[in-house]
Amino acid sequence: MHIDIQFVPSPPTLEILSNKTIVVIDVLRATSVIVHALSQGAAEIIPVTTVEEASHLVKTFPKGSTLLGGERESQRIKGFDFGNSPKEYTAERVKGKRLILTTTNGTKAFHSVAGAEDVLVGSFLNIRATVQRCLDLGRDILFFPSGDEGRFSLEDVVCGGMLIDLIAKKSDTRIDLTDASSSACIVYQRFEGSLVEALHLSNHGKDLMALGLGEDLFYCAQTDITDLVPTFRDGVIRK
Ligand code: MLT
Repeated sequence: MHIDIQFVPSPPTLEILSNKTIVVIDVLRATSVIVHALSQGAAEIIPVTTVEEASHLVKTFPKGSTLLGGERESQRIKGFDFGNSPKEYTAERVKGKRLILTTTNGTKAFHSVAGAEDVLVGSFLNIRATVQRCLDLGRDILFFPSGDEGRFSLEDVVCGGMLIDLIAKKSDTRIDLTDASSSACIVYQRFEGSLVEALHLSNHGKDLMALGLGEDLFYCAQTDITDLVPTFRDGVIRK
């Protein structure tokens, strides 16, 4: 099994995506929100790239069936039901609902890898379940951190490094790591035992703290609070 990770989120070619498991990671906070909302009973999540697209799409579904969530500059979008803090997506509010989500980096990342067969939603919240799903699928893997407006993001690479480290330890077959994958493992090992420290050190983590959203860093740094590994297919993310 060959494992690679992209340090910056430039859209991969169809050739790179073919025959691989792709894992999209946006620890702060899109993939953490997606995993959390589906674990609270949301029916499905449609990630879209623009606010306009989200506002148009919601009108095409029966009234009351679909809610809008996401952020711009980490703040709730005017007229939307939710911002991008996982704790907002409670069972009481999302159970049985379809969510349309638009975020600065995370929801775009899904569209960058839409040509792949298996696109999984990775985060610390479902990390061991994601490892197991990658091993069960048995394909080569590309981890796709969604980054920070095209730049490297520490928290996503630490999460990718932890996934790679756990897969390498659990796999019965030979694992080939690219230099990027080995580097991600080394970065993860620096924060093993204190993942939240990586989130506090990251630029995006600092921005969230400055906005009074520091609690989200602690929430998103938790591991294995659910066994769900959502899949993105035909434009929709489901359990
Ligand atoms: C993103 O997709 O860029 C993030 O989730 C941003 C955020 O939550 O602040």
